[in-house]
Amino acid sequence: MSMKHKFVSTLTAVAVLGAAAAFPAAADEAKASANGHKYPSIEKTSADAPRQYKMSPEFQAQIKKLPPEFVQQFKKMTAKHTRYSEDATARQVMMELLSDVQCTTAGLMVENGEMAADCAVRASRHRWPKGHLMAYVKLEQINVDSLATLPKINEQVEGGLERVAEMALKKDFVSAGAEMGKVLSGCSSCHNLFRFGKGDSPYIVE
Ligand code: HEC
Repeated sequence: MSMKHKFVSTLTAVAVLGAAAAFPAAADEAKASANGHKYPSIEKTSADAPRQYKMSPEFQAQIKKLPPEFVQQFKKMTAKHTRYSEDATARQVMMELLSDVQCTTAGLMVENGEMAADCAVRASRHRWPKGHLMAYVKLEQINVDSLATLPKINEQVEGGLERVAEMALKKDFVSAGAEMGKVLSGCSSCHNLFRFGKGDSPYIVE
């Protein structure tokens, strides 16, 4: 099975198996989790709708090459992200994510389930950077084959963080810690594929 087909069928399966469970209505989801626990710290701070930026012709051409059904499925997969920054770059959003992940691990280590759960859910529903995350990867990575890796990574990282929150609230810190390990390996999988440049100095010549 090609990557494209795998991606399409993964998402179709999700749609068939219950889109409501996998992609809950954003508004309800922002207020309460399945167990009724409220997360006040994820109140909205950014815009409700993405601002449209003028993108380079090369970028637009690359996006246009994606099959429309692929774009639709991608949108469905990321539907729980309902905060859109008009200011923050991908790196800045990633720093928020890092900070929330560190806060989650701190909460788990000192057995503060509420702290861990709040931070995990906030990390899982991080805001979109200015112009969408897609604007920060290499042009040649904007294609069905590269992006087909994302549903699995997304489930591991964002799905994992939701599971960590549930476990933390149940005070099952051992399972939450183990799940957190999988989340972290998901972060590095995505970086391995889509992050380029580590800020190397142009002045170090040898
Ligand atoms: C969907 C793919 C993806 C996932 C999942 C992901 N990242 Fe990232 N991350 C990126 C990309 C792309 C960049 C580079 C952005 C840039 O340089 O403009 C990045 C950059 C970063 C940076 C900045 C590093 C630097 O040197 O500037 C941090 C910190 C970071 N990510 C943290 C995390 C953490 C923590 C997780 C997991 C909870 C995570 N990321 C998950 C794609 C991802």
